[in-house]
Amino acid sequence: MKETTDKIRADRNRTLTVTDIERKKFSKNLLRINSTKPLLTDEIINKTIFGDLIAALDNLPEGFADLIVIDPPYNLDKDFNGFKFKSSDNNAYLEYLRSWFPKVVRCLKSNGSLYLCGDWKCTSALQQVMDENMIVMNRITWQREKGRGALSNWKNGMEDIWFGVKNKNDYYFDVESVKMKRKVIAPYKVDGKPKDWVETEDGNFRLTYPSNFWDDISIPYWSMPENTDHPTQKPEKLIAKLILASCPVDGIVFDPFLGSGTTSVVAKKLNRNYVGVEMNEEYCIWTEKRIEQAEKDKSIQGYVDGVFWERNTLNIQQKSLKKKELETIKKKQSKSIITTANLFD
Ligand SMILES: C[S@@+](CC[C@H](N)C(=O)[O-])C[C@H]1O[C@@H](n2cnc3c(N)ncnc32)[C@H](O)[C@@H]1O
Repeated sequence: MKETTDKIRADRNRTLTVTDIERKKFSKNLLRINSTKPLLTDEIINKTIFGDLIAALDNLPEGFADLIVIDPPYNLDKDFNGFKFKSSDNNAYLEYLRSWFPKVVRCLKSNGSLYLCGDWKCTSALQQVMDENMIVMNRITWQREKGRGALSNWKNGMEDIWFGVKNKNDYYFDVESVKMKRKVIAPYKVDGKPKDWVETEDGNFRLTYPSNFWDDISIPYWSMPENTDHPTQKPEKLIAKLILASCPVDGIVFDPFLGSGTTSVVAKKLNRNYVGVEMNEEYCIWTEKRIEQAEKDKSIQGYVDGVFWERNTLNIQQKSLKKKELETIKKKQSKSIITTANLFD
């Protein structure tokens, strides 16, 4: 059988492609829900569920997820590979959210966390539906640069991510795992020594705790290996922060609007389990291909050496990685020298 890819790309374009053979193979991995039988956690864990969320929700187990990441259609006209989401007034959009949000919250553990994404236009409806169903802990604003400016309005350069929990006295949050490595602007010294920062050959850096304003994350683009043709794909770096902070290792992350699979892929890379629902088969297939790739390559652009780096620091990140690799090789070599020496003791 002759293999064809859906698109011919330019040499340096790393956007995901899928062959017909792969499409058949990955399609077989998908979990299709065709009965009203309740599903067990064991049946859905580490699966991509292909189907309509609204139909699937009543069958999903209660309280299975440590973390839920929701990136729903925003209140905009958008074509998701044939499924056309139509913008409506705020009340109608709020009713749309109310039709599924409480059922999604039902899937969260009593000590779990949930993040809900949106833009300036739908954010008030998002806050309202969060308030109605859980405790709102914070609103993260992601500085999201894309596209040309508008002629008669301010260009949109941000998105919100609402953070909520079921119990504000009992939820998982690991802030140490989401520290940021930032260039020091005012290198303050005490007794001639750097105060809370380090001098390196590439500049002065400080490790800081993250705030609720995220300005270090770019949108995936054609030269990045994580890029797909999905119209609203989230960056792996953004999802990595949510998962590291709010889901323990080996926990379960649930994404009810999976799209190109970013949440499941990042969960896999960070040793968490995943469950995702997506109504478009082609997107489910892209997800499966990305998950397979994640078995071999667990790297997440911008997250290197256990810390999050600022934008435009790729060269320094690569240097840091090489340095670490060399150190590991040296350690291994010195171990094997010691072991060999022991043979002659
Ligand atoms: C904003 S996108 C999510 C993008 C995703 N975060 C990513 O990184 O690729 C929303 C997705 O929800 C899917 N969707 C919309 N309504 C749905 C429904 N009722 N059931 C399942 N999927 C749905 C769309 O096909 C679309 O891919």
